[in-house]
Amino acid sequence: MPKSKKIFVCDNCGNTSVKWEGKCAYCNEWNTFVEKEIKEETKQEKRKKVWKKEDDRFTKTPKRISEITIGKTIRIVSTDSELNRVLGGGVVPGSLILIGGQPGIGKSTLLLQTALRMEKKVLYVTGEESEEQIKMRANRLEDNQNNAFIYVENNVDSILKQCSELKPDLIIVDSIQVIYSPHIDSTPGSVSQVRECTTDILKFAKETNIPVFIVGHITKEGSIAGPKVLEHIVDVVVQFEGDRNYNFRILRTLKNRYGSTEELGIYEMTSTGLRPVENPSELLLSQNDENFSGSSVAATIEGLRPMLIETQALVSTAIYGTPQRSATGFDLRRLNMILAILEKRAGLFFGQKDVFLNIAGGLKVIDPAIDLSIIASLVSSLNDISIPKNTCFAGEISLTGEIRAVKNIEARIKEAARLGFEKIFISENNTKGLNTDMFNIKIQSLKKIDELISYFQNI
Ligand code: TYD
Ligand code: MG
Repeated sequence: MPKSKKIFVCDNCGNTSVKWEGKCAYCNEWNTFVEKEIKEETKQEKRKKVWKKEDDRFTKTPKRISEITIGKTIRIVSTDSELNRVLGGGVVPGSLILIGGQPGIGKSTLLLQTALRMEKKVLYVTGEESEEQIKMRANRLEDNQNNAFIYVENNVDSILKQCSELKPDLIIVDSIQVIYSPHIDSTPGSVSQVRECTTDILKFAKETNIPVFIVGHITKEGSIAGPKVLEHIVDVVVQFEGDRNYNFRILRTLKNRYGSTEELGIYEMTSTGLRPVENPSELLLSQNDENFSGSSVAATIEGLRPMLIETQALVSTAIYGTPQRSATGFDLRRLNMILAILEKRAGLFFGQKDVFLNIAGGLKVIDPAIDLSIIASLVSSLNDISIPKNTCFAGEISLTGEIRAVKNIEARIKEAARLGFEKIFISENNTKGLNTDMFNIKIQSLKKIDELISYFQNI
């Protein structure tokens, strides 16, 4: 007989302890330890060689990998091209997809509009909003509402029962943190509830082959709330990001068992829902024709998608003692590093200057290829020389002042040429093996930072 043993488990983070504790040492929450009984196999039992016996539990046998045939998976393709792209070409039947994001970013809007636009039967389960609220949102989205069903419920058993009766082609659960399983005592949103409900939904999805979208909230630190196991259980994890003060939203894949994680979906929040953006560069570049100093264009890449983004810098004389440094959409420490490189390697002094940097459109760019454009904007603002509108930049700066090669240079050049740019500055190392005649754009290679500075003297 298995012997039972008592342990204490923190309801908030899953930490275990042999004795009860008032405060969890791991997550610092109070009164979260609950007693659990675990069955432990006795030593004799462990020692029994169960595999020696005839046992009908062992019906599955190992197969040669070459003997396994793949059935044709027909993905459910939604009308939303960006969502299809992020999921690797559509929704795989029986898959579990987790969508995380900050409150108010548009998760419910995205999923509701997907539900409304599907030609297949979709069940939208919500534990957060009322039927009327959903109906009001659906009216706002102005889509066909015939195939979408709404079900307001928090109990996972009731949800799965209705799902098996209605037999939809797609299920959406908004959100996992408000769903609870009646078989567990803890409150909805706690680690054990989230884990239990997700496992129930997973079993349902795999047995019925119905794909399920799960909405997950995000913690202050930016990770999906609940146990990390949640991300291990599901097949796909996508994150919806963006600055709520701007209209741009990015749907990014963090994990995908059925496709690449390099893909990225871009949306614009409008008064009638989220609009997929096919050509982000056209929206991210400023529309006016006037030339201002301090502004330049970077040929960046997000995932696999090239995007041309405007970077703006303002360098002005500091009137207060300590000069200010401020960066929006860019790492402030990296800006400080670039300023130090400009001082040391190019003799440009920003010590007595306030420096403000802004990436247009509210985007956060981590692609190092933006460095060159940032330097161009800084130098342009410092010297009050404007950069011609038809010029763009792609290169990373090293501490020695050299311009380093960046990945996917061809995609960047092609995008710049497509948008009508006439000149692109890139690292000399990137030109190796590059057929420069192939592109309808002048490619100017740079080795060191001084070459860019001397370019400014000739504008
Ligand atoms: P919501 O989708 O509820 O976000 P989440 O589920 O991630 O918390 O809300 C998104 C925000 O978008 C909300 O503040 C209202 C706004 N919105 C629009 O701008 N246009 C629209 O068509 C809709 C439906 C919402
Ligand atoms: Mg919501």
